[in-house]
Amino acid sequence: MRRPLIAGNWKMHKTVRETLDYIRRFRDLVSGVTDREIMIAPPFTALYAAGEALAGSSIRLGAQNAHWAEAGAFTGEISPVMLKECGVTYVIIGHSERRHIFGETDEMICKRLSGVMGAGLRPILCIGETLEEREAGKTFEVLERQVKAALQGFAAEDLRELVVAYEPVWAIGTGKTATPEQAQEAQAYVRRLLADFGGKEFAEGIRILYGGSVKPENISALMAQPDVDGALVGGASLDPETFARIVKYA
Ligand code: G3P
Repeated sequence: MRRPLIAGNWKMHKTVRETLDYIRRFRDLVSGVTDREIMIAPPFTALYAAGEALAGSSIRLGAQNAHWAEAGAFTGEISPVMLKECGVTYVIIGHSERRHIFGETDEMICKRLSGVMGAGLRPILCIGETLEEREAGKTFEVLERQVKAALQGFAAEDLRELVVAYEPVWAIGTGKTATPEQAQEAQAYVRRLLADFGGKEFAEGIRILYGGSVKPENISALMAQPDVDGALVGGASLDPETFARIVKYA
């Protein structure tokens, strides 16, 4: 049985003060939740303070990206080792905004995955098609390319902590959530790709999250799907009460 993960990707929102105010409220709202894993991913600047504020809590801390090296002349980048010192457990890798706004390549994403796992952190690999690709009937082709490129060079035993997030680009920030059936179809395909890569047992052990306009109103129907093991939530995770409602889905 895969333990559900409900994760909040805050993107470029919240100062340190706003992060601490959020955590103070959010901790109380979800204090009784034990049957699912909860994660918040503030901006880099708030991670150290957030890690201290989450001490003793079951809420996991996430980062929104990481470089592949432990240190070096990589202006503007953050090392996985630096994230670990902040108390980070999960690292979002290959988010569509990194890919489509900042031009991150499949090769970079594969290297970032390696650096994150090398530091003992858990990667959340983001994949997903654009509206044009879906309308052209290329969804499965895109997902296959992204999964194969990201996992190239790894063995299944290296990837036991891998989490995958299927985030159709056309659903991110648009309010146009994929239907539960669309999410299930895509995520079942990703599970088959994982089985082809590392065998059925490996694939069955990997959590596949859905991301893209998740709200309290649609989380339960999404989570009812057999291959939806959680959610990666953007906008709706920025308000503690709203995100707590998503976390506490029935
Ligand atoms: O990483 C999650 C994010 O891309 C989804 O954003 O605002 O559509 O929930 P949103």
